[in-house]
Amino acid sequence: MLIALAVLLSWPAPAVEEANALAKTPPMGWNSWNQVGCFGLNEQVVRAAADALASTWMRDAGYRYVVIDDCWQAPARAADGSLRADPTRFPSGIAALADYVHSRGLEFGIYAVPGSATCAMANNAYPAHGIGSLGHERQDAETFASWGVDYLKYDWCNADTNDGLDRVAAYTKMHDALARLPRPIVYSISEYGVGEPWTWGHAVANSWRTTADLSPTWASVTSVIDEQASVAQSTGTPGGWNDPDMLQVGNGTLTDSENRAHFSMWAIFNAPLFAGTDPAQFGATDRATLTNREVIAIDQDFAGTQGQRLAVSASTQVWGKPLSGSRYVVVLLNTGNSAARVSAAIPGQWTVRDLWLHTDTGTATDTVSATVAPHSATMLQLSPS
Ligand code: GLA
Repeated sequence: MLIALAVLLSWPAPAVEEANALAKTPPMGWNSWNQVGCFGLNEQVVRAAADALASTWMRDAGYRYVVIDDCWQAPARAADGSLRADPTRFPSGIAALADYVHSRGLEFGIYAVPGSATCAMANNAYPAHGIGSLGHERQDAETFASWGVDYLKYDWCNADTNDGLDRVAAYTKMHDALARLPRPIVYSISEYGVGEPWTWGHAVANSWRTTADLSPTWASVTSVIDEQASVAQSTGTPGGWNDPDMLQVGNGTLTDSENRAHFSMWAIFNAPLFAGTDPAQFGATDRATLTNREVIAIDQDFAGTQGQRLAVSASTQVWGKPLSGSRYVVVLLNTGNSAARVSAAIPGQWTVRDLWLHTDTGTATDTVSATVAPHSATMLQLSPS
């Protein structure tokens, strides 16, 4: 049995310089990468995703940004140096696609890189050249704004070794280019946590990746969870969030309970929530996981700190986070292969609600406990009673 003592129920919010006035809660949406990767990306896929988000509970649950990741670009820039969309897979062009997304009550996002090469050029042999934003930062920012872009993912892709760039300088350059625009654009940076962006990202961007790419396996999910334990000390703040990568809910080998545990943890991290599965094809269970409004509310609630790891053993963990209204949330996580009794000592008298059972399960004084199945999590919201 694992017992955690939560001595701090609230943390003072750190004074930080903000990148802009955007993303006051963690951004949510859909991103193409975990669904279709590189060559599967085309305008039909994006339109279908927008349609499905709009016609299901997804948009209403908060999934607002429809983001096209790497491989939207034509093989080369136009004669005037501007970026263009791949003419075969995006025959209508990006502005029309952004219009379509906007017409569904959603917002539109795009992908670019600070160096000379995108990740897919190296990792997927994407046949392009000169499509990085190096030397084109202002021009690309203006192009994106003219297309109606609302969100930019700016992905490192070895710009240090390829192009000799410095992370803070390169990310600040695009920040400055975006700041000149009349259009607000949420700025998501991705350098996999290598340069400890949680120490400098607040002044530059609205979110920063903290880890390498998340794979759709339990081993990858638990490895990223473990990595957040130290990062969580440098907590995100409204307008700037630690990003443990996009969701893999519904993908790969993840089981239903693993998906729920993954989603519970991303919520207690105050992580950006980007689905990466076809929203038109979700099974009922995946849809119920991704649209669990009580868990989404935890993700969107920031009361001074993201979730912190309160205790860890070989196969169990306790994470906790203060919520608005003097409430508190606890995740009792079982990473192991057999059921485990997990307890957290949270001083106070509480009414306990199970956010996956959607049920008030009783009251507790100073300690909450649950028997947690293998590879799963129990998420409990505690309200003063
Ligand atoms: C990197 C990023 C991914 C995705 C791909 C695209 O691996 O971490 O999220 O953007 O590049 O090539």
